[in-house]
Amino acid sequence: MKESDRYCKVVEWSEEDGCYVGSAPGLLYGGCHGDDEQQVFAELCQIVEESIELYRQDGKALPPPRSPIVSQEPTITRVNLLERSYDIQIGSGNLAGLAPFLRERSQATHAVIITDDTVDDLYADKLGDQLTDDEWEVHVMVVDPGEESKSGDNAQELWETMLEEGTDRQSIVLAIGGGVVGDLAGFVAATFARGLQFFQVPTTLLAQVDSSVGGKVGINLPGAKNMVGAFWQPRGVLVDVEVLATLPDREYRAGLAEVVKYGVILDAEFFTFLEQNVAAINAHDSAILTRVIQRCCRLKADVVEQDEHELTGLRAVLNYGHTFAHAFETAGEYGKLLHGEAVAIGMECAARLARHMNRIDDEFLARQSALLVALHLPTDVPNFDRDELVRIMHRDKKVDQGRLRFVLPTRLGHVELVKDVRVDDVQAAMG
Ligand SMILES: NC(=O)c1ccc[n+]([C@@H]2O[C@H](COP(=O)([O-])OP(=O)(O)OC[C@H]3O[C@@H](n4cnc5c(N)ncnc54)[C@H](O)[C@@H]3O)[C@@H](O)[C@H]2O)c1
Ligand SMILES: [Zn+2]
Repeated sequence: MKESDRYCKVVEWSEEDGCYVGSAPGLLYGGCHGDDEQQVFAELCQIVEESIELYRQDGKALPPPRSPIVSQEPTITRVNLLERSYDIQIGSGNLAGLAPFLRERSQATHAVIITDDTVDDLYADKLGDQLTDDEWEVHVMVVDPGEESKSGDNAQELWETMLEEGTDRQSIVLAIGGGVVGDLAGFVAATFARGLQFFQVPTTLLAQVDSSVGGKVGINLPGAKNMVGAFWQPRGVLVDVEVLATLPDREYRAGLAEVVKYGVILDAEFFTFLEQNVAAINAHDSAILTRVIQRCCRLKADVVEQDEHELTGLRAVLNYGHTFAHAFETAGEYGKLLHGEAVAIGMECAARLARHMNRIDDEFLARQSALLVALHLPTDVPNFDRDELVRIMHRDKKVDQGRLRFVLPTRLGHVELVKDVRVDDVQAAMG
């Protein structure tokens, strides 16, 4: 078998538009289209053969073949917020177009890239070069990977370095990384010189479907997650599914928790789509992932458009599972559980609480648990002191004058904010 045969596959055939083909993410992306499937396939094989040859010449190891992606133009999800409106461009291989993406949306000439060590090596360094080639003045500022970096100390250090580098209102801040980098960089952008233009290239699934959309930025205080922050909308978000190829499996799954959340709170049909595509999602199928990310961004954008500053209570639906999750994360001192893992367990607890209060039936609870488990997410409550967890929840922002509030479902695709939840019921839900 020819090497390229393992990478090439026609993944979508359309009589009307011609034949779309997928190629090998990680090795080469893109594809071609025409009206003859055989010819298109041959053309794609040719491109891949050439790419394999280049890898050989460079002495680089070939990446393993992965499921092909549909060759398609990136899509735009518009977040409509009057003068703060912006585009989320979602595609495959579209990082190559970062410079024009920024150029279309900003007159600035200086880019402060904020990233973490891991993402710097993988992507940010190269993206910085792309911007330099496009005649931007570029400064790359690198923090340690991990939740601990969302700190006041780091913000202070970044402000000072930005001052030294001559950052002013002609500068943009570009976050390249996961939710930690996005939240920290956004906070620094919102506060330096009373606010700089902010752009995001989210590189984790969680950041692509959640944290890069909606403008919540911030840092942690010891024992109080996301306690200091702002609403600061980006000018644009560029999402490339290709970067998920390097994401550790555990991080990928953590992102899937937020994906499941959208189905539960807003879109029963999407929940069913996820159930039907578990195998493809577990196999990192790029075509399915692109659809998943597009749907999640649209759903979040719809909520943010109606309640940008979390005033009407609508935006609070996004906190489903999060009151529990924040307590687990805090009790674990931000170390033991990933945010998405805590959210998965938090959703399990929230559904149990809703069941206990007779708001949902057994089938709901069973379907949600089954999907989380099928996506290899945890659902067992960690062995933390239950009273301590409740104490932490009381310190959480979702407390209304001392009473615990929870976002709880009534059916798939619909949740409500429930006030005055009894502590006994909360304890029972954690088992
Ligand atoms: N602002 C919001 O609306 C919002 C919403 C949800 C979550 N959050 C926040 O997001 C944070 C969690 O974000 P996260 O899950 O993205 O974690 P993260 O930013 O810590 O990234 C996870 C790890 O993956 C690495 N990484 C990132 N991209 C990679 C890639 N493409 N390949 C290989 N490694 C890569 C990072 O270096 C890091 O070690 C939490 O602080 C949470 O509070 C914010
Ligand atoms: Zn979250």
